[in-house]
Amino acid sequence: MEFRFLLNLPVVSIANWGEASDMDTIAHFYREINSGFLNKNCGQGFEISYLAEYDENDDPLFRKFVDYTPENHEKIKKMLEADDCMEFFIHESDLIKYYKDFKVRDLQKALETQPPKQVLKEAYLVTEQILKEYFENIGSSRILRTLDELVKIIQECMDRGSLAFIDVFLVTKKDYHTYTHCANVGLYCLALANKLQMKPEAIREIGLGGMLFDVGKKSIPYEIIVKEGKLEPQEFQFIRKHPSAGRKDLNDMKCYSENILKMAAEHHERYDGTGYPFQLKGEKISLYARVCNIMDVFGAMTAPRSNRPGMTPFAALTEMKNNMEGHLICEFWSISSKFLRMPPQQELLHPDQRVIPRHPTKKRRPAPDRYSRELTFSNYRVCKCTRFFYAFFLSDPLMLCPAR
Ligand SMILES: [Fe+2]
Repeated sequence: MEFRFLLNLPVVSIANWGEASDMDTIAHFYREINSGFLNKNCGQGFEISYLAEYDENDDPLFRKFVDYTPENHEKIKKMLEADDCMEFFIHESDLIKYYKDFKVRDLQKALETQPPKQVLKEAYLVTEQILKEYFENIGSSRILRTLDELVKIIQECMDRGSLAFIDVFLVTKKDYHTYTHCANVGLYCLALANKLQMKPEAIREIGLGGMLFDVGKKSIPYEIIVKEGKLEPQEFQFIRKHPSAGRKDLNDMKCYSENILKMAAEHHERYDGTGYPFQLKGEKISLYARVCNIMDVFGAMTAPRSNRPGMTPFAALTEMKNNMEGHLICEFWSISSKFLRMPPQQELLHPDQRVIPRHPTKKRRPAPDRYSRELTFSNYRVCKCTRFFYAFFLSDPLMLCPAR
């Protein structure tokens, strides 16, 4: 075979083909690569395999072709780019090594030399790539473990750069692939947790949970995910099951906290009990899942669909405020007020703009039911809540000004 001479590879005896040690019959552990995947700075080395044959059950059998090293980078690249290009594959174990030992380590080094916003952008792209590996390129969920370190890097970028939500929003891509959406929601959740000054471990946990919250969608047939318009009842059954499927998949990995499992399981529950799959109500829904729910809606609205362009953040927030006020706005406020030490609002403003809140000392009466209490906020309260809602997403300190 010509490609073997290109690389000066020893000719492998045909007699060895089919030996169990050389073969792996589990096709979903292999992922096809193209020349864009190769990077000559990757000194870690990994095995490149090719599809050798099919067994009696028609399962593909893969065989090692060569160790990828910087020295043979050009030759392999040429082979992948040739008109009659070879199809090469990488095993899941090496794929994980590639992300962990090369991509993530590269980002850790970049943290010391590059501006945080630049590193954030690169870390985001790697996050999206890993989620794409999971959703589209490979069958195993082990690849998701590589997100652990990425979350730490992203958190570090936000801290070092004092980045606001809008900085994060501008970094994220706006298309509607499931993997892009998960990467976006992860970053958005992390930004909110950061703003709310949650504990560093909790910030990482909520960021990671945001990236993983929709892994159950892998169990939904693709035609249903991309279908526009109303779903048939049997199609909606798949949708209803994806939160529980996601929780199960993550639980099977035996490495994620209960909070992360709840983000997967409860992100479609609603504060008023109208969500799914369990119609949980109010405080029964995990706080982490409620944050995830808000960011899921915001991310979905700002991403384009085939029948409409993506909304601007302002338009999405206005839509959320006007049409989901009883649900999302009050939800956002109740979450925020749990953690947030509101900044001294007047100090953020020019002296001429300073105003006196209408009811600065008015005490709220305790209400028997928390949901109804949220809905009966005075105008001042609702305005303040709405203003903070906009201020967080749009990073405009004037929005923090109390209502006149
Ligand atoms: Fe979902």
